[in-house]
Amino acid sequence: MSEREQILRHTEAYVREQMRGEGTGHDWWHVHRVRGMALRLARDESADPYVVELAALLHDVADHKFHGGDETAGPRAAREWLARVDADAATIEHVADIIARLSFKGAGVPTPMSTPEGAVVQDADRLDAIGAIGIARAFAYGGSRGRPLHDPDDAPEMHDSFERYKSGGGPTINHFHEKLLLLRDRMNTAAARRIADSRHRYMQEFLAQFDREWNAADSFSDGEG
Ligand code: ADP
Ligand code: NI
Repeated sequence: MSEREQILRHTEAYVREQMRGEGTGHDWWHVHRVRGMALRLARDESADPYVVELAALLHDVADHKFHGGDETAGPRAAREWLARVDADAATIEHVADIIARLSFKGAGVPTPMSTPEGAVVQDADRLDAIGAIGIARAFAYGGSRGRPLHDPDDAPEMHDSFERYKSGGGPTINHFHEKLLLLRDRMNTAAARRIADSRHRYMQEFLAQFDREWNAADSFSDGEG
C-alpha cells in the first residue's frame, strides 16, 4: 500500500472513531456521503483526489458548532492529525485552508473557495445539507439544540455577519430561509448545481406542504382541507 493510501486509511479510522455516537446529523455517514460526492465532483474539475478525500474526511472534526463557536478549532485539529500521520506540508496547508473556508457563515457573507479541491468539498458538504437528507439533518440538529420546529411569530433573518449567524437561535423552519434555500445558487461547480436543483425543489415542496398542514386547522385558510 502506498504511503498516501496508508494516510487515507488511518484518517478514515480516526474520523469514524471521533464521530461515533453523533446524533445531530454530523455523523460518520454524513462524512461518508460528502467524501463520495466530493470525489465524484472532483473528476470533472480535475481536482487532486488525495487532497479532496482528506479534506472531506476531516471537514467536520472539531466543527465550530460544537466548539463554542471557535472557527479555528476545525483547521487546527486537521493540521494536528495530518502532522501526526506525517502528511507532507503542502497537503496539510491545503486541507487546513479548505476546512477554514468551508462553512456557511450567513446569507450575506461570501465564502469563496480558492482551489478546485476546496470547491468540490464545499459543494459536496452543501449538497448534503439540502434535499430529503438535508431536511432530516436540519431537524436533527435543531432538536439537539432545543429549537422549535416552527414559530410563525419569529421571522427568518438574513445574517450579514458570521457572529450574528452563529448566535441566532431561531426555529428550524427559519433555517431553510436563512441558509438551505440559498445553497443552490451558491454552488461552485456546474455538476453540483444540477444536483442541487432537484433537491432544492423537493425542499420547496416540503415547505409548501408543511404550511398547508400548519394552516389546516384554520377554517378560513385554503389549507389541505
Ligand atoms: P456547515 O459547516 O456549512 O454548517 P455542516 O456539514 O457542518 O455544514 O452541516 C450543517 C448541518 O447542520 C446542516 O444540515 C444544517 O441544516 C444543520 N444546521 C446548522 N445550523 C442549523 C440551524 N440553525 N438549524 C437547523 N439546522 C442547522
Ligand atoms: Ni459537513
